Amino acid sequence: MGRTLADMTTTPPTTRYVLGHSDTELARLHAQARMLAGATGAFFTLSGIAPGMRVLDLGSGAGDVAFLLAGRVGPSGSVLGVDSSETAVAFARDRARREGIGDVEFVVGDVRSLDVGDGFDAVVGRLILLYVDDPADVVRSAAELLRPGGVLLMMEYEMEAIASLPPHPLVTQIGRWLTGAFRHVGRDPVLGARLHDVLLRAGLDEPIALGLQAYFGHEDRRGARLGAETVRSMLPVIVSSGLATEQEIGIETLEQRLFDALASVEGILRIPTLVGAWGRVA
Ligand SMILES: C[S@@+](CC[C@H](N)C(=O)[O-])C[C@H]1O[C@@H](n2cnc3c(N)ncnc32)[C@H](O)[C@@H]1O
Repeated sequence: MGRTLADMTTTPPTTRYVLGHSDTELARLHAQARMLAGATGAFFTLSGIAPGMRVLDLGSGAGDVAFLLAGRVGPSGSVLGVDSSETAVAFARDRARREGIGDVEFVVGDVRSLDVGDGFDAVVGRLILLYVDDPADVVRSAAELLRPGGVLLMMEYEMEAIASLPPHPLVTQIGRWLTGAFRHVGRDPVLGARLHDVLLRAGLDEPIALGLQAYFGHEDRRGARLGAETVRSMLPVIVSSGLATEQEIGIETLEQRLFDALASVEGILRIPTLVGAWGRVA
């Protein structure tokens, strides 16, 4: 079953998914995915994911990447999503059924020991390498599931990008809580910036890595909401790691305070950069 946020302090780092799979977290993933859809589609185009392809989606979560892929590969292609959480797989299957999306399947599995067949035209993974101890090893194994000439595309955040322009102390503080919390549980908050290196170490030839940056003007509430909800998801780690107390965070008022803070400086909110890195196997 899916884990809860409280597990972050009790589950060994090699097996835990930091954010859990509560309904709130799945809903947050869904909202985040809507925001990432444009950049993700751009990375599909840049890396050459095309109609008719058979694609494997690593760490499929609520299914958003797999659904975007299904739209891209069309009825002549197919998509298989794999996730270690039974809760996430059941949720994604249910969405596929409710939304009438065909040619997409979800299975429970661990990306560190995949048993899903091979000969894929493409392997894609968004926000999954952050949760494994050896990203290059996972990429190397995933690349072995590709047919010759197949493409591998990974997407991860570069979280040091979190800022307001001009700076505001609350935004700087939220950036420190989030990056600090990921570091505290042994996860690299700037993995996106390292993806090029990860793909090279995994043996891909001349990979390309590009960052796509989203910005929110201070009048758009979605930025403040995303920031506050991400802090909510990470709250137990932020508190248990000593980065801040619950009183200092004040989660119930954080969204409004963040919205007001940005308005006070007419600040542009810069959220984490989504970095895409891709390469082909010979
Ligand atoms: C942040 S979510 C990303 C979901 C989706 N890729 C997206 O971008 O919307 C990370 C997902 O990876 C899954 N995950 C974490 N470690 C995993 C592992 N070792 N094997 C398979 N899935 C894993 C989690 O269960 C979670 O659903």
